[in-house]
This record gives sequence, C-alpha cells and structure tokens, in this order.
Amino acid sequence: MSVTQQQVLDVLKTVRSPRGVALTDANVLSAITVNDGKVFFSINVEASEARAWESVRAAAEAAVRKLAGVGAAMVALTAERRPGAAPPPPQRHAPGHSHGHGVQPVAAHRPPQGAASPMSRQAEIPGVAAVIAVASGKGGVGKSTTAINLALGLRDLGLKVGLLDADIYGPSVPRLTGLHVKPELNDERKMIPLARFGLSIMSIGFLVEEDTAMIWRGPMVMSAINQMLRDVAWGTLDILVVDMPPGTGDAQLTLAQNVPLKGAIIISTPQDLSLIDARRGLAMFRKVNVPVLGIVENMSYFQCPHCGTRSDIFGHGGARHEAERLGVPFLGEIPLHIAIRETSDSGNPIVASDPSGPHAEAYRAICGEIRDQLRGVIAAA
Ligand SMILES: Nc1ncnc2c1ncn2[C@@H]1O[C@H](COP(=O)(O)OP(=O)(O)OP(=O)(O)O)[C@@H](O)[C@H]1O
Ligand SMILES: [Mg+2]
Repeated sequence: MSVTQQQVLDVLKTVRSPRGVALTDANVLSAITVNDGKVFFSINVEASEARAWESVRAAAEAAVRKLAGVGAAMVALTAERRPGAAPPPPQRHAPGHSHGHGVQPVAAHRPPQGAASPMSRQAEIPGVAAVIAVASGKGGVGKSTTAINLALGLRDLGLKVGLLDADIYGPSVPRLTGLHVKPELNDERKMIPLARFGLSIMSIGFLVEEDTAMIWRGPMVMSAINQMLRDVAWGTLDILVVDMPPGTGDAQLTLAQNVPLKGAIIISTPQDLSLIDARRGLAMFRKVNVPVLGIVENMSYFQCPHCGTRSDIFGHGGARHEAERLGVPFLGEIPLHIAIRETSDSGNPIVASDPSGPHAEAYRAICGEIRDQLRGVIAAA
C-alpha cells in the first residue's frame, strides 16, 4: 500500500521545530509531493535560523522514511526570502555581480567552523574519477553555457560525463537542457540523475522551483551540494563537471573546500572588470589547493551571423594575456554568437544541436586540453 500525503503530515506533527512547535504548525512546509512511495518536500525557513533547522530537516526525513509504504524521502532545507522581507545586505565581495537573480548570498556568514575537515574534502565520490569546477569571478559571463557545452565536448571525446548544476542561487541547467522533472529515487534511495544528450545531469533546479528566490547560508549550501554529490547515483563517470555559483564569496569558498575537486576552469569575458574577477576566482582556488586547469575567454569576439566577419568589440585577447601573466594555461576562446545564445536558451546547446559546426569545434578543442591535463586521473584519457 502506498503512503498518502495525510500520513506524511501526521508523522511530521511529531517532529518539532527548534522552538518546540510541531512542524505542521510552524508554517515552514512546502507542498508535499508523494509519488510512488517517494516523498519530496522542503522546509523553508528564515536564513538567520537555518543552522538550527538542519537537525530538524534530518529528523523529518528520518521520520518520513520510517513510514510504511515510503520507499524514499528527500527533504530539502531552503531559506526563502519571504515577500515583503527586508532585502539582504549588498554583497561585499562581488561588485560586478549586479545582473543577479534578485537574490544575493548572505554576506555575513562564515563557513561553519570545523565543517571543512580534511576528511570531507578528500572524500571522493565512488565511481567518479574526476570532479572539475567551472567557475567565474562574476555572474553572467556564460559560465553555465560553457559548462554544458564543455560537458558535451568531453562526451564527444569518448568520456563518460556528468553535469552537476551547483549554482544554487540561479540554477540554469533546467533551461539549458529543457529538463523540468524531478529525479526518481533508486532502491538505495539515491536520486537517479536525469539523462540527456548522453550526460548524467543533476540540478538543484530539479528539486526546487527555478525562480524561487533563495538565500542560502553556509551549512545549507553544503547540505544541498553534498546531497547532490553524494546522494545521487552517478554510476561510473570519467568526469563530473560542476557549474559553480558565480562569484568568490564565502559560499563559493566553502564549496571549493568541500568538494573533492581535481581542477577548476575559470570563465572570463575580455572586459577588464571580468578579468579582475577572474583573478579573484584564481586566488580562491589556489587558496584551497585546487589546481586551475586554465582560463576560457567567452564572448571573446563578435562573429557576424550573416557574413562571419569577426570584430573584437571587447578588446579581444585580454584573457590570454592575463593567463600568461598569471602562469595558468589559456584554454581557448569562444566567440559571442547568437547561435550559442539561442541554442542554450532553448534547451539544445550548440555542441549537441550543431556538433559539426565551428562552435562545437571550439568547445571540443578546449576539452582536448582539459582531458590532457587530467591524464593520469581519468583512466579513459
Ligand atoms: N559565447 C556566447 N555567445 C552568445 N551568447 C552567449 C555566449 N555565452 C553565453 N551566452 C548567453 O549569455 C547569457 C548568460 O549566459 P549563462 O547563463 O551561461 O551565464 P552564467 O555566467 O552562467 O550566468 P549566471 O551568473 O547567471 O549563472 C545567456 O543568455 C547565454 O545564452
Ligand atoms: Mg549560470
């Protein structure tokens, strides 16, 4: 017999909030999805209280799992900015990040004390040979577009590739892939990544609404990211590409410290400001001893869709120069081209939709560099 929503609510009455109120009376529960013995819901709390709620989240999940008829339960802790709530303080460390999603990470938190133990950092993901981060110092530089096209390019090189959208502030993998379904759970209660374009894909956007404005704090960031890294049945992968949240704030640093990264790729546009941000990104990874595989210059030059003429509207070449100066590899450049935007915004990225075109070629060339640098880590390379 499968479990009902009412049975889930009944058991949640027995779980208490940090203030001792029954969870069902605390006005924090999202809609509860019950599907074929699998239960999903989230607990939405004020960002300032998030830390106190993590144990409640775990207790709720455990209680639901014990119900007869429940195959699996997944409870997420989110801090939603409530309508009318005061906006969060401006972020101090990313002056260029104004295009945003109407939300900004809370600037004041510090990574949880003791949480970034060397053990957690080194805990590899079984079956996954290399986790690599695609990062940018600033938002809107085409990080997600590049991440998915690089994942596809690596696939074209014969590698088994996964894509994890860890951009909890603005997940874009649902848009880039056209996928808008919740992942199923397997017998071991692990989420099964969605399959598309021959990639195994997981995004926080599959679990919470894409447009939901969220503020995440350190412990929640790691709880969400850890779930997506470790409670997902990734299977055997050569490379797991992680689309990081933009910026170099504390949340990003926590992530870089806790995810067992074999390398990072920094995306930059040629403009000066973006390069300054790229330098910050570089410094962040160096601080946590993650090797930077190199810099990719995105929207590097404008290529006219009609005549193919190239114009260096942004003062092209800045990233190559900067990479040389900083002593990191320059991985390659991707032009600003409407086809790249249209295909990624319509859920059919260019390496998948036009695999023999020049743009796919440019992404694959970068992928060749990445693979060469990971030789020795990934068996198939
Ligand atoms: N090379 C390119 N040519 C044309 N358009 C591009 C290119 N790269 C990215 N874009 C477009 O720019 C916009 C921003 O790209 P994307 O979402 O990948 O950036 P992002 O750095 O991940 O942003 P965010 O900080 O919001 O996560 C998208 O509309 C995308 O289609
Ligand atoms: Mg993005």
